[in-house]
Amino acid sequence: MINFTKDVSLLSYNTFSIEARAKLFCQTQTDTELIEAVKWCNENNTKWFVLAGGSNIIFRQDFDGLIIHPTSKGITLQPDNQTVIAEAGEDWDEFVEWTIQQNLYGLENLSHIPGTVGASPIQNIGAYGAEAADNMLYVEYLNTDTLLVERIEAKNCEFGYRESIFKNKLKGKAIVLRVAFKLARNCELNTKYGAITSEIEAMGADVTLGNVRKAIINIRQSKLPDPAVDPNAGSFFKNPVVSIETANKIREKYPNMPSYEVPNSGVKIPAGWLIDNAGLKGFQHSKVAIHDKQALVIVNKNNANGAEILEFAEIIMLKIEEMYGVKIVREVNVL
Ligand code: EPU
Repeated sequence: MINFTKDVSLLSYNTFSIEARAKLFCQTQTDTELIEAVKWCNENNTKWFVLAGGSNIIFRQDFDGLIIHPTSKGITLQPDNQTVIAEAGEDWDEFVEWTIQQNLYGLENLSHIPGTVGASPIQNIGAYGAEAADNMLYVEYLNTDTLLVERIEAKNCEFGYRESIFKNKLKGKAIVLRVAFKLARNCELNTKYGAITSEIEAMGADVTLGNVRKAIINIRQSKLPDPAVDPNAGSFFKNPVVSIETANKIREKYPNMPSYEVPNSGVKIPAGWLIDNAGLKGFQHSKVAIHDKQALVIVNKNNANGAEILEFAEIIMLKIEEMYGVKIVREVNVL
């Protein structure tokens, strides 16, 4: 039997430190408990929402339903010695650390990303030239209509840049239970992206699996604010993909603009650069600000609520559109 708690503060369950309340709250440790919770909601006409690490969410208002907080744990290495299955409630970075201790290659560039394993396929977390989808085999999820456990192969998850079937077709219809990854026993380390190589050099270290992880942790810690000090949800916006013509037009005015070609789609421009180049790094309005070291991050400076953070984001989006003619969109989810 699971316990439902009434009128729970969600303050400590979101890295933006937004004070919102849930009418009902429960933790689920097993598939059976999760099924019980969803079944109860279906039978009692109550809406539910799965809140995992809370590192990519804004509560616009109180939640008039059941918040389900999965706490399932377990990581198992399969007989092929390369496939690992991790339960949804596992902390993502502890899972990455575990794979590295097992000398398994593939997730090192995704070190130090906040959140849980269960959230990793939903927005296809990515960093330093890698995405969760790259090594994913399959996802097991609860079909919330039939209450049956189903498996979907990674190739059918419609993964894209911070996109998946779970954010689209399966939105509200699936709850991730566990994720399987096929990792490598040895492979080339991807140190091309960002400052990984220079950071390893600065560490005076060799390019090894463990040192790539250490370098990425160092880089992330130096750029991204600690939510315990400056409440935030990491990258607030997605990097926009624009046409080659639009990118060229902006580059005529700002020759230093960084950009990356995205095959068959256009050109990706870092939203952090667009905001920074607009002079908005460190910009504060009321209780909310742009982080002073990484312009893609919005920081809750003084107990702002969700609506105030969203208002601030609107101001930034508008300024970017006015200045460059490019629309940027939120990466963070809103409830
Ligand atoms: N830039 C600036 N000013 C800034 C920030 C960035 O000019 O304030 C420029 C940088 O100089 C660089 C470019 O923008 O040329 C890209 O910056 P960076 O490599 O720091 O990455 P990003 O595009 O800002 C993305 C992800 C991050 C991920 C990093 C590293 C998105 C929305 N964000 O950020 O993901 O850690 O790449 O791979 O794609 C997250 O999703 O929460 C997150 C932190």
